[in-house]
Amino acid sequence: MDAGTDRTTPRLYVPRYTALQRVNHWITAILFVLLTLSGLAMYYPWLYFLSAPFGGGPPTRAVHPWLGVALAVCFFALAIQFLRNNLWNRDDIRWASRFKSIMFNEHENLPELGKYNAGQKAVYWLQLLLVPILLVTGLIIWQVYFGRLTTIETQRVALLIHALAASIAITVIIIHIYAGIWIKGTGRAMTRGTVSGGWAYLHHRKWLRETLARGDQGRTVKAGSAYGGE
Ligand code: HEM
Repeated sequence: MDAGTDRTTPRLYVPRYTALQRVNHWITAILFVLLTLSGLAMYYPWLYFLSAPFGGGPPTRAVHPWLGVALAVCFFALAIQFLRNNLWNRDDIRWASRFKSIMFNEHENLPELGKYNAGQKAVYWLQLLLVPILLVTGLIIWQVYFGRLTTIETQRVALLIHALAASIAITVIIIHIYAGIWIKGTGRAMTRGTVSGGWAYLHHRKWLRETLARGDQGRTVKAGSAYGGE
């Protein structure tokens, strides 16, 4: 029998996210999707149909800024926890410069990495830049509460920046989702909170070594309990 399908062979799983971090991430993700739908519904007339789940135009307009504030709070809570592991180091330059090896899964040519690779870090820092821009420009164009505080010209510029930042943020998140699907076994990090030992060894070996060296094995590595997924 193929070792990969042998259900008597215990697999090792390494914890990657706590339950609280996963809840925090999924609330952020849901808010992001709702913001994208409600934002696009207001942006292009031919996407107006996207306002239907919110109850039409006026409710969509009313709820969108509140969703934005909630996303900013949730995202900042997430970002603070992940800051340390997203700091840049020399391995990121070495990893990113070997683009061909990344694309063709030539892992033997790639350096050992910590918890995140340069692509993940880029997503993190781009969102950390874009979310405050979206928040500030969003507050400026929030007519009901702040409309009288700024001039029409300022609001026009803010609206333009808001739309541009949103377009980039949506593109970045599409790449983020695609990368999670493309690199098999990543999804369970955010669904179950663990990754397989093989996944960790292949993609984030330095992080795996550090996790084991910290003496977390007893608590962290579970054997044979879950066979689903990768
Ligand atoms: C909408 C669907 C989304 C899916 C399917 C998704 C999926 C994932 C997965 C599987 C991971 C784990 C990656 C790993 O540990 O290697 C992850 C991590 C992460 N996600 Fe998402 N995500 C989504 C939306 C978002 C949004 C909207 C944001 C922020 C605006 C976000 C921010 C993050 C951050 C900061 C991490 C940790 C990686 C890092 O800090 O570099 N995600 N996501």
